[in-house]
Amino acid sequence: MSTKPLILGIESSCDDTSLAIIKGHQILANVVSNQKVHAEFGGVVPELASRAHQQNIVPAFEVALKRSGIKKEELNAIAYTRGPGLMGSLLVGSSFAKGLSISLGIPLIEVHHMKAHILAHMIDDNESTPNFPFICLTVSGGHTQLIVVKSPTDMEIVGETIDDAAGEAFDKAAKMMGLPYPGGPLIDKLAKEGKIGTHPFNVGTMDGYNFSFSGFKTSVLYYLRDQIEKDPNFIEKNKEDLCASIQDSILGVLFKKLEKLVEETGIKDVAIAGGVSANSELRARLAAKREEGWNTHIPKFEYCTDNAAMIAMAGFFSYEAEKYGELAAAPQARMPF
Ligand code: KG4
Ligand code: ZN
Repeated sequence: MSTKPLILGIESSCDDTSLAIIKGHQILANVVSNQKVHAEFGGVVPELASRAHQQNIVPAFEVALKRSGIKKEELNAIAYTRGPGLMGSLLVGSSFAKGLSISLGIPLIEVHHMKAHILAHMIDDNESTPNFPFICLTVSGGHTQLIVVKSPTDMEIVGETIDDAAGEAFDKAAKMMGLPYPGGPLIDKLAKEGKIGTHPFNVGTMDGYNFSFSGFKTSVLYYLRDQIEKDPNFIEKNKEDLCASIQDSILGVLFKKLEKLVEETGIKDVAIAGGVSANSELRARLAAKREEGWNTHIPKFEYCTDNAAMIAMAGFFSYEAEKYGELAAAPQARMPF
């Protein structure tokens, strides 16, 4: 009989309800229920998100059990996202986790959502697994971080955004172009048909490893406003080229800092994580760095955007270290790293 623990992961920090079951490093089920209710509002509506989590969480758990072929009594621990995220959404996942932990009499494990994005790399059906220490560029809807990952439990943030996150920059630029939320994947798709460098956007410069995207946002806004004054159909006529330039501007600044960190630390294992790591151009540009001697690691597509597989993976490392959570622990919208 295998001694590998069976861990349930629960993710409900934003607008995806996800439950996964992991055995050691192997994912047995990863159920993600996307919430469609937000599209017409141009962004995630927190109250609608928590209500949808309430509706989705029990069916998603049942599907996860069915797909994995295990009974809930076989689970060894329950890992859940304690933060950061939307308070109402986190409450649904944490309450469910706590109730199940009491009823099954098994330990609870608290997981930091951003650390879990990074640990998604340790799931065994990825193409490659990074060696420690490695550098991770974590780019999501709420965070942009450059991290030196020394071990699964020892990570140091060396740079981060001082205002908007990279995903937010994608989404807000898309919104200014009249594209629906979330705009990131749409910009990715349209940019494939466009030419870069046809539209100038200012991404600004920051010293060190920090990022700032507020200047970029203003630059897109003013540029579009000026062009629309001259031609009301400007966006429609230039959609693909605009997307290519927007994407190139955001990726350009991310790579500039990433290259600097690789050079200064000498660490050649480089990974990407978070929702924006699903971006096809980001993946291609990182893979191309192999020619410069980087050991690049690109997570499987389904482990990039929010998912519970990564929460279960992070839970595994805490379980191994016997680091358990408390029933009294409240969710943390702004959880310290
Ligand atoms: O990690 P994630 O799923 O949720 C957060 O924790 O924030 O990241 C969501 C972000 C959104 O801003 C979304 O537009 C962006 O990831 N995103 C993308 C792509 N897929 C998702 N951005 C650019 N290209 C993509 N293909
Ligand atoms: Zn995320």
